[in-house]
Amino acid sequence: KKVVLAYSGGLDTSVILKWLQTTYRCEVVTFTADLGQGEELGPAREKARLLGIREENIFVDDLREEFVRDFVFPMFRANALYEGFYLLGTSIARPLIAKRQIEIAERTGADAVAHGATGKGNDQVRFELSYYALKPDVKVIAPWREWDLTSRTRLLEFAEAHQIPIAKDKRGEAPFSVDANLLHSSSEGKILEDPWVEPDEIVWQRTIRPEDAPDRPEEITVEFERGDPVAVNGERLSPAALLTRLNELGRRNGIGRLDLVENRFVGMKSRGCYETPGGTILHVAHRAIESITLDREAAHLKDGLMPKYAELVYYGFWFSPERRMLQALVDESQRSVTGTVRLKLYKGNVIVTGRRSPNSLYSMKHVTFEEDQGAYDQFDAQGFIRLNALRLRLAAMAGRKGGGL
Ligand code: ARG
Ligand code: SIN
Repeated sequence: KKVVLAYSGGLDTSVILKWLQTTYRCEVVTFTADLGQGEELGPAREKARLLGIREENIFVDDLREEFVRDFVFPMFRANALYEGFYLLGTSIARPLIAKRQIEIAERTGADAVAHGATGKGNDQVRFELSYYALKPDVKVIAPWREWDLTSRTRLLEFAEAHQIPIAKDKRGEAPFSVDANLLHSSSEGKILEDPWVEPDEIVWQRTIRPEDAPDRPEEITVEFERGDPVAVNGERLSPAALLTRLNELGRRNGIGRLDLVENRFVGMKSRGCYETPGGTILHVAHRAIESITLDREAAHLKDGLMPKYAELVYYGFWFSPERRMLQALVDESQRSVTGTVRLKLYKGNVIVTGRRSPNSLYSMKHVTFEEDQGAYDQFDAQGFIRLNALRLRLAAMAGRKGGGL
């Protein structure tokens, strides 16, 4: 019996590690991913060693490029927003962690996988749907749903009894739960549970307050090729480096804070505070380059499907036929989405000031208020309107004026 644990090196997953060894009496393989959460991975390896994990059972991987290239960018091609606002920073990371965990399970001959998500949230669903989609016979262990370490005191007692080192600042209860990666950081729970109470400033970790941002706007350009950003201010960057750069620009201009009450897949509402500085810039910039390169009906069709796509990602159905079908549609639409967007970053705002593309469908000749040299015959509009009005007139003549039924 062998289990691959998604291991952060923190107190909770260290307790899970020991609990797996003592309760299930199984060999534990740890997997720690660098998704750009901004923490050193060395300590996680050290801690796994300290807890008795054999060297060949410790996996530490830098997944930042894969995360941005194969998960974040494809999702941004769809302009995905859950419930109008959430850029899905946690949701999009789970399938990648799960995928890598399953690969490690296969490589090490493990029959089980374990994660540290609670039984109340979305993350358990996302991890486990991904596990089952990739390895249908896998055994899943979710300690938070099984164990009796339901209070902080009991968790700390267990840690002490098993010689798990506890950082001084971890003796007390953390004031809220955090999940972070290159795309965002998310805080929820505890002091954030009352949706009327304004989040304390300590919640915000990767942006300065918009009020404190510079009084002068910062102008930037973002270049796209086939729907993906490839350069910032003329400098070509790898996917992870590009998102890192946008995060820095967003941070110092106070961009990307969101305080949201959302509907969890399991049925309850929850309040989350999100910071997505680079992602917020990217979202606005991507819509701007689409605005001149996409055909109207192509744009509207893709926009109509966007909420469905976002919901699939939020619910955890990344590895599903319906997500792949929508992705194929979205990706096809991006063939012409190439060009440059200019933006101003100013005190929490992302303001588009220009867009251009070799594939632009924008025709100054047609739209001009000046003489158009015969490009567009205004007389054509008369028949266009008359035929569109036909059914409205027929209904009005039948006594249903003004759209009455
Ligand atoms: N509510 C967000 C989601 O479902 C974030 C969940 C994880 N965040 C956390 N602070 N534990 O995607
Ligand atoms: C958790 O329950 O582990 C975090 C919150 C969520 O998954 O929605």
